[in-house]
Amino acid sequence: MAAFFYERMSAIQEWGGGILDDLATRGYTVVKNLIPNETAVALSNEVRSGYREDDFRPAAVGRGDEKKVIPEIRSDYVQWLDPNYLSLHMQAYWDVVDSLCLLFNREFFAGLREFEAHATVYPPDSFYVKHLDQHRNTAHRIFSCILYLNTDWLPEDGGYLKIHHDTAPLDVLPEMGTFVCFRSDTIWHEVLPTHRERKSITGWLRR
Ligand code: OGA
Ligand code: MN
Repeated sequence: MAAFFYERMSAIQEWGGGILDDLATRGYTVVKNLIPNETAVALSNEVRSGYREDDFRPAAVGRGDEKKVIPEIRSDYVQWLDPNYLSLHMQAYWDVVDSLCLLFNREFFAGLREFEAHATVYPPDSFYVKHLDQHRNTAHRIFSCILYLNTDWLPEDGGYLKIHHDTAPLDVLPEMGTFVCFRSDTIWHEVLPTHRERKSITGWLRR
């Protein structure tokens, strides 16, 4: 585990410049090989079995008293992860995000304190309409981090993450191991209707 961690740390140091530049200039970044492919495949299998075992619940929107399931807004299923009880592979991913967190705190003085995340499944025909991740009246979520866990995703499978942006709009295919990080307060985005089951881990670095 330690060797893995240090190897990843040095990869992040290497790409770190690119990630920081992207976030500072465009507000988002896309990294294809943040974690080893074996780890992504193992996580994909874990998410699939949790979903089959009915450990997932319809995702809600809003927070506190305003929290509601509204399938016209989003129709995915989620399982919140407990940072104290992570599988080995999930811990490996968590460690990588923690090292990004350190980097953002050092370089952006971001004051990030924790990562919260859920495993996510979008069944066929589900979607999430255009939105921002930072909740109204609270500014806890600073950076959104998504790791996609789907083999052989084709353009006709739909389910793109559509990033709305004045100068650099982008459609991201939710392919195995692709990692996206963006500012939770400024980046409008949506999940286009998917035609295949679409798995991911979705999380937020919080202040
Ligand atoms: C979200 C979200 C995007 C995606 O869960 O808030 O926007 O590509 N997810 O899964
Ligand atoms: Mn979102």
